[in-house]
Amino acid sequence: VSLKPYNTFGIDVVAKHFVTISTLEDLKEVLTLKNYPNKLVLGGGSNLLLTKDVDALVILIRLKGISIISKTDNTVLVKANAGENWHDFVLWTLAHDFGGLENLSLIPGNVGTSPIQNIGAYGVELKDSFESCEALEIETNTITTFNKAACAFGYRNSIFKQHAKGQYIITSVTFKLSTKNHQLHTNYGAIISELDTMKITDPTIQEVSKAVIAIRESKLPNPKEIGNSGSFFKNPVVDKSVYLEVLNQFPNVPSYPVSETQVKIPAGWLIETAGFKGKRLGNYGVHEKQALVLVNYGGASGYEILRLSEIIQTTIKRIFNITIESEVNIL
Ligand code: EPU
Repeated sequence: VSLKPYNTFGIDVVAKHFVTISTLEDLKEVLTLKNYPNKLVLGGGSNLLLTKDVDALVILIRLKGISIISKTDNTVLVKANAGENWHDFVLWTLAHDFGGLENLSLIPGNVGTSPIQNIGAYGVELKDSFESCEALEIETNTITTFNKAACAFGYRNSIFKQHAKGQYIITSVTFKLSTKNHQLHTNYGAIISELDTMKITDPTIQEVSKAVIAIRESKLPNPKEIGNSGSFFKNPVVDKSVYLEVLNQFPNVPSYPVSETQVKIPAGWLIETAGFKGKRLGNYGVHEKQALVLVNYGGASGYEILRLSEIIQTTIKRIFNITIESEVNIL
């Protein structure tokens, strides 16, 4: 089976065995199949660079369903199964006037993979509305519930990328959302100017979502048109001393404070300053409007994109003495 339709980079590699899962029972059963020792779980395929054919049983998670668990005066608990498309789920919450996920509109991928890297955009992270998730432990084939603390969320990070890596399959996520007195997060520069352009002074959550969609559409390539995995790298967090050295040479370096001793520098700026923005090598390259995004114009191999990412990393290290790590999983 070609995995091209199942990864947003649009890389054409072949999986030896492939199964689509739409019930929890089927998922449990498939995990017991002894003749397929190697298994690869696939959700929305939006954070993945496939560099070679997959000698494993690929398990495509398509568990569907959204339900309201409980309501209080101001909040609601909503549970979504792992195979729901993330943006469709956000639109569902907005149609119900449930607040909390509007800044996370249009992020590619599925609900089930959203906690793994604690998806985030425009000043909001998944963890801000996360209540709990259910996950199937592969070794024991039993369901465990992880509350927020157990997930150990950090910037683009969680227990599912650390200790628990490869041990669980997330089957559903429950969110705590607001039903009234929505707390808006509209302080991010790009949102302020977009709402201004839209001539909206007192936005609703639906209008914040519209603004976010407009910003993303203007900067980020649509994976349906140009293969990509969103940000390819994480924004590096560096010691102030490293930052001051960069500042000395590049007085316009943007930065965000992280702690007393550390700052975050946008990797997009580093990559652009190193001259890679919009660079095209045949059928792949660096996006012209957002240097943090590597793109496949069609027909590129995962290996080629991996090699480009390594050249970018080495160059950034040489120019700025900063190591940037990839955000996508490389297989
Ligand atoms: N910048 C450049 N050149 C570029 C891109 C960015 O100079 O080509 C600089 C600019 O100074 C800009 C700053 O970087 O002001 C920040 O850029 P932007 O607001 O576009 O955000 P980002 O730091 O590049 C992060 C997330 C995105 C998320 C945006 C918006 C990471 C790795 N990426 O990008 O997430 O949408 O913020 O909140 O944290 C993703 O993870 O796939 C993703 C798209």
